[in-house]
Amino acid sequence: MAGKFITLEGGEGAGKTTQARLIKSYFEESGFDVVLTREPGGVPEAEKIRNLLVQRDGGNWTPMAECLLFFAARQMHVETLIKPAVAEGKIVICDRFTDSTVAYQGYGHGFDLDTIRQIEALTLGGFSPDLTFLLDIPVKDGIGRSLKHNNSAPGDENKEDRFERLDVSFHERLRQGFLDLAKKNPERIRVVDARQSAELVFGEICAAL
Ligand code: TYD
Repeated sequence: MAGKFITLEGGEGAGKTTQARLIKSYFEESGFDVVLTREPGGVPEAEKIRNLLVQRDGGNWTPMAECLLFFAARQMHVETLIKPAVAEGKIVICDRFTDSTVAYQGYGHGFDLDTIRQIEALTLGGFSPDLTFLLDIPVKDGIGRSLKHNNSAPGDENKEDRFERLDVSFHERLRQGFLDLAKKNPERIRVVDARQSAELVFGEICAAL
């Protein structure tokens, strides 16, 4: 029997990583084989691309080049890890996927949404998650949380905060983008109020699972 591909989405500080680990344990306790992975990255080639995208000194990409890099990483990830694992009956849980590109590069940075969809079709050929949890949190709460977790020296050029250093209006557009995606894909995307405690968020996720 084929497995399932489940993704977690949301802005900064929404608690995706914590929930991804909880979902992993939940399925493992029920006897499933689980793969926990993330984007950009997940396989060695895509992790190399990740460094170009998320580190402070990773490069000053044009919007098109940046979008192509995200999908180049994603295509490797899907073909060499996600699809084979799902075919073997595993549950694959991924921290971010295509919805993040639509929200960040599209709604956030204003890159053309149709072009993103064309690149998606070309690289992934219609492959998409079986289920997505959108952890939704008001921008101020989310940034506050992620600042708490992220207080390294300002001069650290390898620091993975290129996207977190963007302004509040960017994060507002991002949030609206994710909510728009959820409205357009109600059968796939479940919105969970991430202001709640991790336990309550996980309770809602379990009910949906
Ligand atoms: P990550 O380090 O996993 O941050 P977070 O803990 O917020 O999930 O993600 C790296 C950054 O890359 C994050 O700020 C979101 C951004 N990103 C995009 O802009 N587009 C994408 O397609 C993906 C997958 C991530």
